[in-house]
Parts: sequence; C-alpha cells; structure tokens
Amino acid sequence: MKPVLISGIQPTGRLHLGNYLGALKNFVDLQNSGKYNCHFFIADLHSLTEEFVPKEKPHQIIELAANYIAAGLNPKKSLIFLQSQVSAHTELSWILNSITPFGELRRMTQFKEKSGSHQESANVGLFTYPVLMAADILLYDANQVPVGEDQLQHLELARTLARKFNKKFGSIFREPQALMTETPRIMSLDDPTKKMSKSRSAGCLFIDDSPEVINQKIRGAVTDSGSKIAYNPKEKPAVSNMLMIYKSLSGESMEKIERQFGNRGYFEFKKAFAKLVASHFAPLRRKKMELLKKPAKIKKILQRGSAQAARISGKKIAEVKEKIGLAI
Ligand code: ADP
Ligand code: TRP
Repeated sequence: MKPVLISGIQPTGRLHLGNYLGALKNFVDLQNSGKYNCHFFIADLHSLTEEFVPKEKPHQIIELAANYIAAGLNPKKSLIFLQSQVSAHTELSWILNSITPFGELRRMTQFKEKSGSHQESANVGLFTYPVLMAADILLYDANQVPVGEDQLQHLELARTLARKFNKKFGSIFREPQALMTETPRIMSLDDPTKKMSKSRSAGCLFIDDSPEVINQKIRGAVTDSGSKIAYNPKEKPAVSNMLMIYKSLSGESMEKIERQFGNRGYFEFKKAFAKLVASHFAPLRRKKMELLKKPAKIKKILQRGSAQAARISGKKIAEVKEKIGLAI
C-alpha cells in the first residue's frame, strides 16, 4: 500500500508565493509522483479563527478549490475535500483536547503571534487550532504532511498526541512526518527578516497578481548592499530570497542563474524576475478564471471528496470511540 499523505490550506483569501512554493506546488508534484495516496482539503474550520465575513466565505472556499485544481491537483488522483463537511474532524479534535496539555498550546508560536498582546480576548479556537490540525492528520493515518516551516511546531504536537493516545488507550494512530520543499520559508520582499504573508501586503506576491502589480512590487523590493547578484542568505538575504524564488519557478540551477545575472545589476535582474513570475502564473490564472465560471462543478468535486473522506474517517473515529470506552 502507498504511504498516505495529507495537507490543507485555509480559505482566507488569495494565495501568495509562500503558500505556492512552500505548499501547493509541492502538493501537485507529490500527487504526480504517483508514490502517495494523497488527501488535500480546505481547512475552512481553521479559517474561522481569523476575522471573517460569512457572506465571503463560500467564495473563499470555491476560490481555493479552483486554485488547487488550476495548479494541477486532480480529483481523479487525489481526494479533495472540505473539512467542515467531514464531521469526524471536529469529533476527534474534541477527544484529543482532553489529552492535550494546556502548556503545550500556550507555547505555540503561531498562537503567540496571532494573539499578540491581546491574549485575554483571543478566541479559544485560535488556541486549540493545533489540536484540530492533529485530528485532520491522525484520522487518515497519514505518513507524510507537506507544509511550510511555520507549521512544523503544529506537526510536532500531532506526533506527541498520537504517541500519548497510543500509550494511554492502545495503539491506533500513526506518527506523521513533515515533508518540506527547498523553499519552506519564503521571505517578504519588503523585509527579508519577515516571512512572506498577506498581512505584509507590500512584500507579498499573490499568484493572481496582474503583471503590472508584480512588476511594481518587485521593483519596490528591498535589496542588499553591493551590486552583485549572488546567492548568500547570510550576507545578502533579500536577493537570495528572490534568487531562491527564481530558481524554484524556473527550474534552473543557482549557478546558471548567478552566471546569467551576476554582474548585470539589480535593475536587470528584477526586470527578468518580474517577467518570470508573471509568465509562470499566467496559465494558472487563466485556468482558475475558467473554473470559477462553473462553481457548481467545484462544489460537486468537494462534495464527492468529502463523502469519501467521511467514509474513511468515520471508520477511524469508531475505532477511537472503542478505545476510549464510548462505543456502547
Ligand atoms: P498564511 O500563513 O499566509 O496565512 P496558511 O497559514 O494558510 O497561509 O498557509 C498555507 C501553507 O503555506 C502552509 O503549509 C504554510 O506553511 C505555507 N506557507 C505560508 N507562508 C509561507 C512562506 N512565507 N513560505 C513558505 N511557506 C509558507
Ligand atoms: N494549519 C495549516 C496552515 O495554516 C492548515 C492545516 C490545517 C493543515 N490542518 C492541516 C495542514 C493538516 C496540514 C495538515 O497552513
């Protein structure tokens, strides 16, 4: 049997290059490798932990599904589903809550960053977010979880909870491993010490930005001292980040890119870089627009996938209930 692979992304708006190079592109490559039994879902329940407008949510969900498919995920090859349509996720999440130490969750970097100086008023969903994520993963006996670096701490908790549950109630969960790309942490174009994120809009390249906007953002990207275009993350963090993106999108080797641009200066490099980003995502943008004309088709894909996911996870949750004495 093929190893099981699972991952999800929250439907919270547009995807940026960090989401693409840290996660989505890898999802597609892993699916197409044929080596895994792939599950990709839309983490809509997780997305409720951030401010949202109910009227916008359906569009955000459909748009993310369109991005999945336009990028190359294929419902014939992968199970694609919507988290909220599979009730076992919330059920297992509650059960796992009861073995999760409060202190572990309080240490989570994402919680600390997202709640900031307002921990008292932060919603509890933001706090227990990693427990729901553990449930997402453990329900499917996943071996591998492709994510960006910012999710490693959450994955570690999933491993801890699997071990703890197995020890306490009998072996039932598999401990998952993270699977990262060579770009697990794309940095912001306006500050290479911060990760690219939609909350820093000036330094964030969205995969459906128009060529003009891409040009403008890249032209405004900060650079390092010295005019040489060379990969050196310590001394030249800004240009190294752009070079890494260039490498991942073009598929060319770093040596070749350095040879091509080394002495041509930032202006020329940025021009070519903007052109590459715009042309790389043009087919995806077009395909996504086509898909968005038929939302009913996308909904059907999600419903079918969710029904299948419910069958798989339903069996698992029944076994879990058995272990903890709730199967009467
Ligand atoms: P965001 O952090 O923008 O809100 P999500 O939390 O929904 O996005 O992340 C979706 C996926 O993208 C996750 O696997 C996450 O690790 C990855 N990711 C997010 N930002 C980056 C980044 N700057 N570099 C690499 N991967 C990233
Ligand atoms: N927390 C992930 C993120 O912000 C999304 C997510 C939810 C996820 N459940 C998951 C990723 C399970 C991998 C596996 O990107």
